[in-house]
Amino acid sequence: MSQPERQSEQLPAPDALPAIDGLPDPFMMANGSRVATAEDWAARRREITAMLLGYEYGHMPPAPGSIAVEKVVSRAALDGAAIEKQVVLCMGPEGRIRMRAGLFVPTKGDGAHPAILAVEPVWLEHLEPVAARVVDAGYALAGFERHDLDADSADRTDGAHPVYPEYDWASLAVWAWGCMLMMDYLDMVEEVDATRVAITGHSRAGKVALLAGALDERIAVVAPHASGAGGAGSYRIVGNGSETLALITEPERFHYWFHPRLAGFAGKEERLPFDQHFLRALVAPRTVVSVEGLGDKWANPLGTQQMYVAAQPVFDFLGASDKNGIYFRPGGHDMTMEDWDVLLDVAGHFLLAEPAARDYTQLPYPDVERGFSWTAPAEP
Ligand code: GCU
Repeated sequence: MSQPERQSEQLPAPDALPAIDGLPDPFMMANGSRVATAEDWAARRREITAMLLGYEYGHMPPAPGSIAVEKVVSRAALDGAAIEKQVVLCMGPEGRIRMRAGLFVPTKGDGAHPAILAVEPVWLEHLEPVAARVVDAGYALAGFERHDLDADSADRTDGAHPVYPEYDWASLAVWAWGCMLMMDYLDMVEEVDATRVAITGHSRAGKVALLAGALDERIAVVAPHASGAGGAGSYRIVGNGSETLALITEPERFHYWFHPRLAGFAGKEERLPFDQHFLRALVAPRTVVSVEGLGDKWANPLGTQQMYVAAQPVFDFLGASDKNGIYFRPGGHDMTMEDWDVLLDVAGHFLLAEPAARDYTQLPYPDVERGFSWTAPAEP
């Protein structure tokens, strides 16, 4: 058993935790004192990470260190607008982790390109219009096949789980680890500027993008799309028709995305020592912008707004007030070309300092109360 897992064995069970009135205060340290300095926040960030991994996602192994890149394809693509690379990344004990990855590098423009990292197998034909749009905007587009690391099922005999039996990571954590491997890979590709990467993913892949972006401080911009429960949506504040903690962790549904401890909070959400604004706050002082459909009730638009609002004091405290954003478009649960245009606007603004074409602070439910009374400590 790994060290963090051994420590998390001592995590109190839901009934041993206090019921918290309103949303938990991200600045309240485990020792009862409140964050006052940047160093305090660094320590608090570690506490929050430990809580989220211990109760919600499970622990991941460290980066495998070296990655062998097997080239499968390298060719002109998108009518000559890009060079497409398809590779297999081999790593971990005895090279047993094998993950397919793909990259489109624009042929126009010099030097290392900023990149969009999608939690998707970007080489698939149906994503070609997306690749063309992203490349045309001057970005490289990278992605990977997360199911090479873990099939989307409760089975733990495939992919990365049997390679690291001492880790208690559930599927979202395995897939998020894949994003981190992609960052290792992008760092090795000289046509890509790994300091200017925006990560995105839709729905369950949006949960993955947010988790990876929260944990991996190399990811400059984190843009989960319609991520809902286990992503940018709240467990405590759940709008009508939205997915609850109890629903997502049902044994016949998606319990295997999460550490088994999470299901213990079904109906006891007020005892969770965190809510998803803690995950969001881990991105600060980097950028997070969640993109949502107003009609996508299952993904909890109200609870997503409230997490955005509750993470804002952390961004304020770290001098990054304008790095927390949210955007709601009309419509339901899909990632359309219009959504990719929003993503490119987000990347243009937050990665490349271009003027934004949209307002990323507009609340869909401006009259709803904040749900917490704590405030940010005075600036460090
Ligand atoms: C289900 C699940 C959601 C998830 C979605 C998806 O609807 O309940 O939590 O986001 O699948 O990934 O499309």
